[in-house]
Formats: sequence, C-alpha cells, structure tokens
Amino acid sequence: MDLHSSLSLAMLISLCALLVLVIEPHPAWGSSRASFGLTATAPPPSGICAAAVIPRGYKCQEFEVTTDDGYILSLQRIPEGREGGALSKQPVLLQHGVLVDGMTWLMNSPTESLALILADSGFDVWIANTRGTRFSRRHVTLDPTNPDFWNWTWDDLVSHDLPAAIDFAFKQTGQKIDYVGHSLGTLIALASFSEGKQIDKVKSAALLSPIAYLSHMTTALGFVAAEAFVGEITTLLGVAEFNPKGEPVANFLKTLCADPGIDCYDLLSALTGKNCCLNASTVDLFLKNEPQSTSTKNMVHLAQTVRDGVLAKYDYGNTNYNLEHYGEAKPPVYNLSNIPHDFPLFLSYGGKDSLSDVRDVENLLDHLKLHDGDKLSVQYIKDYAHADFIMGVSAKDIVYNQIVSFFKRHQ
Ligand SMILES: *[C@@H]1O[C@H](CO)[C@@H](O)[C@H](O)[C@H]1NC(C)=O
Ligand SMILES: *[C@@H]1O[C@H](CO)[C@@H](O)[C@H](O)[C@H]1NC(C)=O
Ligand SMILES: *[C@@H]1O[C@H](CO)[C@@H](O)[C@H](O)[C@H]1NC(C)=O
Repeated sequence: MDLHSSLSLAMLISLCALLVLVIEPHPAWGSSRASFGLTATAPPPSGICAAAVIPRGYKCQEFEVTTDDGYILSLQRIPEGREGGALSKQPVLLQHGVLVDGMTWLMNSPTESLALILADSGFDVWIANTRGTRFSRRHVTLDPTNPDFWNWTWDDLVSHDLPAAIDFAFKQTGQKIDYVGHSLGTLIALASFSEGKQIDKVKSAALLSPIAYLSHMTTALGFVAAEAFVGEITTLLGVAEFNPKGEPVANFLKTLCADPGIDCYDLLSALTGKNCCLNASTVDLFLKNEPQSTSTKNMVHLAQTVRDGVLAKYDYGNTNYNLEHYGEAKPPVYNLSNIPHDFPLFLSYGGKDSLSDVRDVENLLDHLKLHDGDKLSVQYIKDYAHADFIMGVSAKDIVYNQIVSFFKRHQ
C-alpha cells in the first residue's frame, strides 16, 4: 500500500470518528467510547424492528437471508404505513453505506425518516444490513473472530449481499423492486447494474450522495496528507475486522486529534462536508448505534478507488495474484456507461459533500451522458453534505418527496 492510498484510508477512518467528535470533543474520548451502548461484539437481543420501528406504531418483520457465500444477513420489512392501506404495494429496498447499518434510515422522527415516510406513502419497505454490521455478523461456518470472515470487499457486496437481498424481496413480493442507496449503497448498485446484474428485478433506483469515482475526495483533506500516520495505518491493516470502535482505530484517532495541527471540529467539515441540517438529538442517537464494522480489505479497496481514479475490482497489488483471480494483470473495470440507458435513475448530490465530491459526481454523470433523458433525474442541493441525505431535518421536503414522486412516475 503506498502513501496516497494509506492517506485515503486515514480519511475514511477519520470519518467515522468525526461524528463522535461532534458531540464529545477531544478530552471526552474515554467516556464517549463508554457511552456507545451497543458494541459490535455484543448485539442487542432485539433487532431493528423492535428497537426502532414497532415502538413507533408500524408493523415490522425480521428476516434472515443467507448469501451464496454463506453470510447470514438480517433484513427488515415494514409492509405498510401506520394507516395500513392497499394490499399490493410497491416494494422498495433501502441499502445503507459503509460503517453504518440499516438503522441509519430510522434515526429521525417518523415524519423525517425515509424508511417510515416510504411506508406511509404506500410502499412495502425492505431494509438491508451488510455483512459485518451488528445484525449481520453470522455465517454458516465462519465466526467473526475468524479472519476469514472478513476476507471480502465491496466487490463481494456486489456479487453476494446485494443479489441476496434483492432476490429475497423480489421472491417474497413477486414484484420488481425500487431501490434506494446512500453512499456505498449507491456504488454497489451502479457496479452491479453496469454488469447487467439485478436489472431484471429492479424497477428503478434512487441514489443519494452517489459514490463511484472518488478522486477528488482527497483535495478537501489535503492537510491530512501532511500528517505521517502511515505506520499506525499499516498496523491496522493487519486486523481483519475493521472495527471503528476497537482499540487500534481509537488509538489512531486519539493520536490524530491530539495533534496540535489538527482540529477535529474542522476535520468533520473537511471530511463529510459541512452538514447543514442535522438535529443534535438525532446525531446523539446515531452515535449510540453507529459506527459499525466493515472489513479492512473493504477499506483498502475504497482507498484504491480514491487512489486510482477508476472504478475497478479489488487490486491484489501483484500481477500474479490478479491473474489468478481475474485472468488479467489488472483488476477488471466496472464500466458505468454499460448501465442500460432506459433504466430509471434518480441521483441527488450535495454541494457541501466532501465524500461524494461535486467533481466526482460530474464524472459519474459524464459516464451516464448517453442515458435516456427522461430516465435520468438529477438533483443538486447546494447546502447538503453527506449525512444530510439520511438525517437532515429538511430531507423530506427537499429529497424524499422527490424520491416518492420519481418512483411513482416510473411505476
Ligand atoms: C481470500 O479470498 C480469496 C478469494 O476471494 C482467496 O483467494 C484468498 O486466498 C483468501 N485470503 C485468505 C487470507 O484467506
Ligand atoms: C430534533 O429531535 C428531537 C427529538 O427527536 C425532536 O423533539 C425535535 O423536534 C427535533 N427538531 C427538529 C428541528 O426536527
Ligand atoms: C465503456 O462502455 C462504453 C459504451 O458501452 C464504451 O464506449 C467505452 O469504450 C467503454 N469504456 C471502457 C474504458 O471500456
């Protein structure tokens, strides 16, 4: 791993800690970690339905889905809104981003949270939880303490997790589904569609803070590059599970934030962008639930995406290994121009989002330039940053109403 990709990884790591620092500044590290009610290793006995959906007056069902490589994922279904309604509803699957889980869609009040707004707008809502997050930490043979459990990257989410969740909702409902992704949840869908996969089971897709090309993510963070934490990061890479609440990551961040040149308050703005519209009590709830684990290999793959400027499969960093895995010296590229041009897509991106940088979204849009005009809707929100799309108090008025009308338009 070279300096650039190590630094990219540092940025990604920092991101998960920054949210912590919004509420609890530097001296409170110990107490802030202790206040994480739910740890990745000791999941609460009840799932997302019992924690965040049923208490708010909605029906909710928990499902387990096993991927074709053996991961047992939890999936929630909110079959109808508080008012009930028609029997046959349009299914929609919500796919969260990296370092969070399905709870991310349920942080605000019912009239502000996308999952519940969709249920109340007549959709049959399905919530996915990626492998490694607290409700999806099982496998038919592997235990999470086994490093082999963590031998995957987002390529595997494209080829295993996403198909498992989509197939399941498709079979249960007997209908093509709508899709909503945020952040990494947009990347895995775009990659999948570009290979012609899932398109037969998905009716249309809404992509929030779309991530595909990541080359410009670095520029907002140029100053982080001045810090030489490569040693610590390399040590982290030895860990198969990337647990943002674990000691190695926490120690790394403590060092980072203790540096007189780094103000973690400013880092937040530099990393996610300056979120305009978050509610402090929502952020508090978010921190009680997130961040969640992912695999170190996944973080490395994301760092490669930042470094290389192309959207490609995981690079084994060695011609022979790449040949062995792909039959090619370089990892195959996901060509987003191959997404069928008549597939309905809605993209919403923010002017203040440093993870989904405007220039990178423009690069993505350039790859979609041959898309049928009436099948591509693009929304640009000047004041929004990364977290506003899932937790912003104004997101219903600005974004979610647009999603509902986009889905209804492409029924
Ligand atoms: C991880 O999985 C790949 C196949 O995807 C395999 O080639 C490799 O040997 C595995 N690595 C370890 C450390 O098990
Ligand atoms: C912020 O969240 C709290 C708790 O859910 C709620 O009472 C309050 O109305 C929210 N504020 C806004 C502006 O949405
Ligand atoms: C991607 O696909 C488009 C259209 O299908 C093609 O014109 C272009 O050459 C491809 N790009 C690469 C890098 O293969």
